[in-house]
Amino acid sequence: MTIGILTSGGDCPGLNAVIRGAVLRGTEINGQDFVGFRDGWRGVVTSDIIELNRGTVRGIAKQGGTILGTSRTNPFEGSGGVEAIKRNMAERGIDSIIAIGGEGTLAAAKRLTDAGLKIVGVPKTVDNDLDATDYTFGFDTAVQIATDAMDRLRTTGEAHSRCMVAEVMGRHVGWIALHSGMAAGAHVILIPEQKTSIDQICDWVQKAFDRGRGPLVVVAEGFMPDTMDDPHSERGLDAFGRPRLGGIGERLAPIIEERTGIETRATTLGHIQRGGVPTAFDRVLATRLGMAVSDAVRDERWGRMVALHGTNIAHVDFSEALGKLKTVPQDRYDEAAVLFG
Ligand code: F6P
Repeated sequence: MTIGILTSGGDCPGLNAVIRGAVLRGTEINGQDFVGFRDGWRGVVTSDIIELNRGTVRGIAKQGGTILGTSRTNPFEGSGGVEAIKRNMAERGIDSIIAIGGEGTLAAAKRLTDAGLKIVGVPKTVDNDLDATDYTFGFDTAVQIATDAMDRLRTTGEAHSRCMVAEVMGRHVGWIALHSGMAAGAHVILIPEQKTSIDQICDWVQKAFDRGRGPLVVVAEGFMPDTMDDPHSERGLDAFGRPRLGGIGERLAPIIEERTGIETRATTLGHIQRGGVPTAFDRVLATRLGMAVSDAVRDERWGRMVALHGTNIAHVDFSEALGKLKTVPQDRYDEAAVLFG
């Protein structure tokens, strides 16, 4: 039995640990053989394949990125489609697919499974916004990177008596902002789930300034103050026709400065949050998910993805997992808000 593994969508620290976990468990315990599709669904559609075995995955768990490459290719476009993929897989002797990816990847995997392909999934997003799993690998790494950055912003902010605004990832939800903001002791945490006015933000900043010297604000890229009611649309589309995200930190800083009179600087952390080595937590979680997905293929759990429920690995139907965003609940925000005001 040969299984093809792909990583698709935005990368995420821990992807290589999933690949390694699956290949080691599969080859050593489950009697499986593996190949890797290059660059996500593009490799499936074009039959761009590399060998995966114990040797090729040696030492990769601590590497960022993905040894397979990734892309946002839609498997139904271009020379793709169900019949072409079935033909390619049959020609290369590939029976089934392990798809490691986010919402878009898993939606494509579901469509292909419904058309008769044998696919199991592993969820991936640094944003940690998938409701069907308690944590996604990569999130812990992103939070650690953002926390380190804010610890640094704090010291330079205090030295200059400035307000520092750190913009972190999170286009729909504020998990990275919430966790890194709590860890770094931010004075203001702004997330898409919580409507917050400019007046309130400036009030928190002023109070933090009066108590100390350098207020720290963390803002998720998807946040908009309730008084700016034209969320991202006014920023238009990027060169690829996607809504332009980010930039909210740069927009807030001059407003805070003008209203409070406190000199303010903004830093956008951007893709730094997705780069470099995964934390130990993410390596362990990703390795466990990789091993579990090899078992899921052995047990023919097609159309399902592995997930973390508490500390246990569970299996969730694609149809149950898709389209359900895990937002920050009010009580979690309220805990963090004890730090403000
Ligand atoms: O979904 C994960 C994410 O990191 C978002 O937080 C961010 O908006 C987006 O990906 C960036 O995507 P890209 O790498 O395509 O610019």
